[in-house]
Amino acid sequence: MRIAMIGTGYVGLVSGACFSEFGATVTCVDKDADKIERLRRGEIPIYEPGLEQLVANNAGAGRLGFTTDLKAALAGADAVFIAVGTPSRRGDGHADLSYVFAAAAEIGEALAGELTRELAGDLTRAPTGHRTIVVTKSTVPVGTGRRVERILQRALPQGGFEVASNPEFLREGSAIQDFMRPDRVVIGTDSEHAREVMRALYRPLYLLETPIVFTAIETAELIKYAANAFLATKITFINEVADLCEAVGADVQDVARGIGLDGRIGRKFLHAGPGFGGSCFPKDCQALVRTAAEAAAPLSIVETVLAVNDSRKRRMADRIAAICGGDIAGKTLAVLGLTFKPNTDDMRDSPSLSILPPLAEAGATIRAFDPEGMAEAQKLMPHLTYCTDAYETMQGADALVLITEWNEFRGLDLGRVKGLLRHPVVIDLRNIYKPDDMAAAGLAYHSIGRAGGTPTTKPAALRAIA
Ligand SMILES: NC(=O)c1ccc[n+]([C@@H]2O[C@H](COP(=O)([O-])OP(=O)(O)OC[C@H]3O[C@@H](n4cnc5c(N)ncnc54)[C@H](O)[C@@H]3O)[C@@H](O)[C@H]2O)c1
Repeated sequence: MRIAMIGTGYVGLVSGACFSEFGATVTCVDKDADKIERLRRGEIPIYEPGLEQLVANNAGAGRLGFTTDLKAALAGADAVFIAVGTPSRRGDGHADLSYVFAAAAEIGEALAGELTRELAGDLTRAPTGHRTIVVTKSTVPVGTGRRVERILQRALPQGGFEVASNPEFLREGSAIQDFMRPDRVVIGTDSEHAREVMRALYRPLYLLETPIVFTAIETAELIKYAANAFLATKITFINEVADLCEAVGADVQDVARGIGLDGRIGRKFLHAGPGFGGSCFPKDCQALVRTAAEAAAPLSIVETVLAVNDSRKRRMADRIAAICGGDIAGKTLAVLGLTFKPNTDDMRDSPSLSILPPLAEAGATIRAFDPEGMAEAQKLMPHLTYCTDAYETMQGADALVLITEWNEFRGLDLGRVKGLLRHPVVIDLRNIYKPDDMAAAGLAYHSIGRAGGTPTTKPAALRAIA
């Protein structure tokens, strides 16, 4: 199998490397020449555990290559994947499909060129009747696959291609494991030939008995959005339950365990925190809400999830200020973790971007550290003071704020933390410490949805219940 992967971001690069590991010959294409140059040198432009080794192994074996030349990548390809970005369109929250459509047009042009050469006898090989499968891997709203098909039809009225949708469910930070051992693979297409090619590509997973869900294109597109919106809803649900726990003196960790052990509910995505962020959930929920509104089938649950989540992230700044005595001006905060989750350098829509700028604007000095996200964070929040490690951030700070639960922040030397902070206050937005351990270390500990939570809402809410 020969495939081309258009876009070498978090999804394209991981998918391309994993398909080559499965045995396909993969050419990854990006219009960012600098990225391709770095990849050719063996440098990985993103942080994703295990990716460097996987790319090196497969590039070394001659199964994985990188180019800016889409036409060359497409020559003789059985399938071409579109894995370009689909960010939120400015203004209306709809998915910006300009990159997807541009890629489709370029693919159409390249395939048409190949066909013309073939018909003109320009190639040494005989006409093959070869049909390339054009697969959309980017997350795209329902109807996009059909629009990609129409773009290709305009360039290739005589045919020679089939379309399919193959949404990706990998998570940054565990992307390789997710791609190699997915819960399922979803493939939407009308074409039996496309099904055959996709089955062959995913054959190693088929042998592992991974469920492969074949659907219509529209259904595959919607499955991806419904999955993300459901997970975002689960997170938002437990976050609101955490607020209630604080108000009534219950413990959200125990509530999450108590409900999560019910097989109908499941334990995952029930970790209370500062609100979801990242490159997918916020933009995909927004795009789904737009699609639903346009189809006159509104998804009011998802609309509410977005509104609740946005206000939660904003309220985290107030919460931190309240714990620090209300007026944050002149105070110093030590912040650990800036990326939207651990094991990635991705800062897109990270909660830290909603929480920290208002605190800085209110006059706080923010000293921050993140194991992988600082280069990107510096571009987005240049006013922060960036430190070289966790303990350096704490020197003379009035409070320590944990925003992202990187493993290296889970086992801090609490005696050292207390010694470094000017005031022994720890605000843990991810509940990674036990309140008892913190109390034993002499630290005033504030977490989410547990005893010792925000001091601002509890008394009033308890009075109201009494
Ligand atoms: N990041 C994730 O965890 C994740 C998970 C599942 C699905 N997705 C979806 O996958 C898609 C890609 O996401 P990402 O995070 O990998 O994006 P990204 O921004 O990291 O990468 C996109 C890449 O595509 C390149 N590109 C854009 N137009 C191009 C063109 N015409 N030709 C060649 N290259 C082009 C860009 O230069 C960039 O390198 C999105 O639709 C996203 O919603 C992302």
